[in-house]
Amino acid sequence: MGLFNTNAPLLSDLNLLFQIAIFIFLVVGFLVVKLRRGSMKHGALMGFALVLNTVSICVVMMPSLLSFRGLFSMPFTRPAWLVIVHAITGSLVEILGVWLVGTWTFRRHEIKACAKKRNIMRATILLWLVELFLGIYVYVILYLPI
Ligand code: HEM
Repeated sequence: MGLFNTNAPLLSDLNLLFQIAIFIFLVVGFLVVKLRRGSMKHGALMGFALVLNTVSICVVMMPSLLSFRGLFSMPFTRPAWLVIVHAITGSLVEILGVWLVGTWTFRRHEIKACAKKRNIMRATILLWLVELFLGIYVYVILYLPI
């Protein structure tokens, strides 16, 4: 039995809340740099959000993807397509995030080099937001009686 009186297991409800909380960290990290409160704080917050996201992918979403029978027994249904698109977009966000945070970690004091990637950072946050909405849609399709 989950938290919201839906058909979702508790782990999926917790993951939903967790993903929303992670996105709030991202928004705070974005605001920190916009309000010029320091690129170190910005990098650390983004890194923290990425670590939490990686944990949720490895602990909840990847195992769920691998055990999602619909992918193989009904590969052309709406839920299957949605979960595949969600998994591909999420993997792309993860790769971009690891690259951005990884290069920042090794060149933390080269602020200009980091700032040059601002368009990629904006694109990553936007893609992350799209991914969050896709995830919420996955939840609705899988667990709400519609
Ligand atoms: C930025 C990255 C991601 C975000 C923001 C995100 C967000 C979400 C959200 C909000 C849900 C609904 C909660 C739930 O049902 O557990 C969800 C479910 C799911 N996600 Fe993601 N996700 C991301 C990356 C990924 C990746 C990389 C994969 C594939 C490896 C993936 C596979 C899944 C699957 C299979 C579910 C259904 C889980 C279940 O059985 O309930 N997600 N995601």
